[in-house]
Amino acid sequence: MHKEITIQAPATVANLVCGFDVLGMALERPFDIMQVRLLDRREVIITSRDGFPLPSDPALNTAGAPLIAMLEELDRPEGRPPGFENRPIGFEVIIDKHIKPGSGIGSSAASAAGAVVAANHLLGNIFSREDLVRFAMFGEKVASGVKHADNIAPCIYGGITLIRSIFPLDIVSIPAPSLQVTVVHPQIEVRTADARQILRKEVLLKDAIRQWGNIAGLVAGFMKNDHDLIGRSLEDVIIEPVRSMLIPGFDEVKQQCKEAGALGGGISGSGPSIFMLSKDEATAKDVT
Ligand code: HSE
Repeated sequence: MHKEITIQAPATVANLVCGFDVLGMALERPFDIMQVRLLDRREVIITSRDGFPLPSDPALNTAGAPLIAMLEELDRPEGRPPGFENRPIGFEVIIDKHIKPGSGIGSSAASAAGAVVAANHLLGNIFSREDLVRFAMFGEKVASGVKHADNIAPCIYGGITLIRSIFPLDIVSIPAPSLQVTVVHPQIEVRTADARQILRKEVLLKDAIRQWGNIAGLVAGFMKNDHDLIGRSLEDVIIEPVRSMLIPGFDEVKQQCKEAGALGGGISGSGPSIFMLSKDEATAKDVT
């Protein structure tokens, strides 16, 4: 039985423009490096290798809250893995953060997902990937006030994921062509909680129709390797018009990236990062 593991938790792009809260994609890099140790007392300790200030209460930490949810499930008599029946369990997590918090590429999700994937490994992989998403969503609740899985699911499953539902969880991996992703990161911070707060609570039917046409088109485009369909479907008529106001230069950056050959793109998660998809590396370099 292993007592310690070091893992890489990748950055992710949530929403993929039209799929607010339901689509997400894992990136190859950047990634956080997390060292997780099994403790023989019921405690969760989170520390940052680079001295990044973290809340001292693990319940208020994006990696800590998911581990507490996991421990609570282990407290049930049937929740104990073999070999741990009568032993207290705890975890110490040391995070080496490379995904800047507040940048819009799934920093909180990487901490949450990485912690539970590593902890599960130390327990003999007793939990399913869906269980891990369920625990990790407690980290998103700490970060943004709301549970959502469009960063966590791709961080755990890899590739592109559709979150058809979170209550109950229904996660579908979407096969897709290899795509190059360019991320432009303006040097400002946008808190997800704030970027959610400004959204309208009601949507016009004509906008909803256009949006679900785009979501279906995007998923079909990924599955059919149809780059033109992917490009046409990367349109958001509901969220982007509101949130783009928080990102100076958004329209110009998007326009110039498309002129350079990108298939399309938009706000990464809740921003401020902007992401663009390209079908090959040469085009992605032009976009950069
Ligand atoms: N779907 C979430 C949002 C992702 O856009 O608020 C946050 O990273």
